[in-house]
Amino acid sequence: MANETIEIIRKRRSVRSYLDKPIPEEDLKQIIECGVLAPSARNKQNWHFTVITNKEVIDEINRLALEGMEKLGIQKDAGYHLFFHAPVVVIMSSVIEGYSEMNCGCALENMAIAAKSLGIDSCIVGQSRYMYQQDNVNEVNRFLKIPDGYQHDASICFGYCEGDSPEVKPRREGIVDYIR
Ligand SMILES: Cc1cc2nc3c(=O)[nH]c(=O)nc-3n(C[C@H](O)[C@H](O)[C@H](O)COP(=O)(O)O)c2cc1C
Repeated sequence: MANETIEIIRKRRSVRSYLDKPIPEEDLKQIIECGVLAPSARNKQNWHFTVITNKEVIDEINRLALEGMEKLGIQKDAGYHLFFHAPVVVIMSSVIEGYSEMNCGCALENMAIAAKSLGIDSCIVGQSRYMYQQDNVNEVNRFLKIPDGYQHDASICFGYCEGDSPEVKPRREGIVDYIR
């Protein structure tokens, strides 16, 4: 018998279609708190969360990243939106050292699970890194309130799934060994 937490982990999906519906402030605060409560190597907490609900800013990150992808010859369908028009995006960044990227991964997953438990869907988005294919990297960091010495790792968008939740994607076989 799975408990509620395990059920939530089983139900989480990367959602790529969102309703035009804001997330209540109280729910958002709880999601971010769960990110902040994630473990970090040597408890360094050397991360930074930029929580964005401003649609124009979200669209600007999308524009910068798509521009970066184009520069690298990465094709995307016309009208592709990095965050699928979700109402909230969290940009994770961290000090460039040790396990900081892994720490951000822990925070991202904590937030995804917390969100799901509140009926809110999400998608982790690594493609936001492409916004750094620009000459004005420092300007991008200032725009996103990323502190000096920090680097953007990945982002996550949150919202309410439009339509049915996607089916679970099959997991690879043979990836687990037990040594007893
Ligand atoms: C580090 C990381 C980066 C990801 N980047 C993207 C992305 O840029 N765009 C996207 O649509 N999904 C992205 N995903 C979501 C994965 O595609 C998704 O987790 C995977 O297909 C499994 O599906 P599920 O999350 O529904 O189980 C990312 C996931 C992780 C962990």
